Amino acid sequence: MSLFDRILHKWLFRSLANQLLITYLLVITIALMAVSLWALVAIRKESLTDLQNTLEVEAVNLGLEIDNDLVLDSPQARRRIQTAVERRATRLGVAIVVVDKDGRLLSDSSPPLALKNLSNEQEINEALAGVISNTTRSEPASNINWLYVAYPVRSMGETTGVIRVGVALTEIERRLKRDLIVFLEIIFATGVVTILISLWLANRVNRPVKEMSALAKQISISGDFSAFLPVSRKDEIGELCISFNQMIGRLREQERMRQEFIANASHELKTPTMAIGSVVEALQAGAAEDPKMRSQFLQSLERLTDRLTSLIQDLLDISKLDSGAEARGQESVSINALIAEAVEQVRAHAEKKGVELSLKLADGEVPDSAEGGAAAAEPKIVGNYLQLLRAITNILTNAVNYTPEGGAVSVTSRLIEGKVSVRIQDTGVGIEPADLPHIFERFYRADKARTRETGGTGLGLAITREIIARHHGTVDVESTVGKGSSFTIQLPLR
Ligand SMILES: Nc1ncnc2c1ncn2[C@@H]1O[C@H](COP(=O)(O)OP(=O)(O)OP(=O)(O)O)[C@@H](O)[C@H]1O
Ligand SMILES: [Mg+2]
Repeated sequence: MSLFDRILHKWLFRSLANQLLITYLLVITIALMAVSLWALVAIRKESLTDLQNTLEVEAVNLGLEIDNDLVLDSPQARRRIQTAVERRATRLGVAIVVVDKDGRLLSDSSPPLALKNLSNEQEINEALAGVISNTTRSEPASNINWLYVAYPVRSMGETTGVIRVGVALTEIERRLKRDLIVFLEIIFATGVVTILISLWLANRVNRPVKEMSALAKQISISGDFSAFLPVSRKDEIGELCISFNQMIGRLREQERMRQEFIANASHELKTPTMAIGSVVEALQAGAAEDPKMRSQFLQSLERLTDRLTSLIQDLLDISKLDSGAEARGQESVSINALIAEAVEQVRAHAEKKGVELSLKLADGEVPDSAEGGAAAAEPKIVGNYLQLLRAITNILTNAVNYTPEGGAVSVTSRLIEGKVSVRIQDTGVGIEPADLPHIFERFYRADKARTRETGGTGLGLAITREIIARHHGTVDVESTVGKGSSFTIQLPLR
């Protein structure tokens, strides 16, 4: 590739604007050239036809004037012919030749008058044969194009001579040349205007694209999502800017959530870890000597490590759900068996708390074991059994946790329009309307003081919602403070 080629390549293919410019320029120039060419050809043809008609009329008129003298063949007749020919030729600025029936020259508007035979010239030949003929040709002597019209003069059904009227085409050609120059000027001017318009247009398109690419580069280098693109237009580029800004907004929000999650998680991990630290310190300081105190401290160590373990498990689950790693493991899950197992898992806890637990499954059978017996066969959904079990247990555990002694928790499943609906209802403390929209958020706890007591971290419902969403289902909640809450999970059946 030569240097010029390389520069051209760089100039053209590195810039959208230049590609646009060249395309416009090419299209417009080619179109204008085609139109001009067509117009020039049409003009030339039209002018020639006009001229031809005029010459024909002149020849016919001259024929009427001299047809008698043509047959006479006397010196006077010849003179009269010559006078008529010269008069007409001068008046019209044309060259007229008259030949007799044998093609001999009788009269010529441009002297000297030489007696020569013109019957070998094609148009005269044709006219002698009786037809009006015309031709255009370049005369070798002057190198000028001429248009000739040869007209047969007839008397008593015989050709008595031929009148040939000729005109130099210089004038027409000059006019065509002038037209061509005008066309070229138009093409040039249009080209200049095209360049200006497309430069402006390309700049209009290019500027926001460049801004976008600069911002994308800046974000990818610094990871800073604070800048937005200015949106000043309503066209596709404007739409692109809006989408781009939405994307930045979303990334910014995700980044904020990520940081918040890390801060919350660290905080939640710190509380039990510090408590463990102080218990160990107390044991070292002598509490281990006293058997009663020792067993008390060891018990609280066990509780704290349990809490730490379950917190870490929750964090691992959430991060697994976030990374999408758990999307695998699709199996056919019997919904009744699933609910029954979830209920069995919290039964001991409910009994300890003095909360009554009741279960009513879709087909009306109340199984007495976790397996659910015959009822477990139907209905089925597709998904991950352990995840779904986790989702239901989280809600069930909450129901038992947030229901005081003597309360009741009921689990009901129903089938509606290709879906299974699982309702977990309690007679517990209920949720304030202000908290209701937030309880599915990570680390959100409605009553911080009380949940600290029960050891919650606010991850349970977030995990549940994530899992159910992954199974194309929904979770809804209704609650009245002091009366109780009701959570409904809906999942599509297989
Ligand atoms: N059945 C319920 N009755 C009353 N409040 C509830 C109920 N279920 C959830 N909540 C409220 O919603 C909050 C969020 O629940 P979530 O299960 O996410 O967290 P948690 O129970 O506090 O902690 P954990 O992560 O251990 O489950 C709870 O802290 C509680 O205030
Ligand atoms: Mg919970």
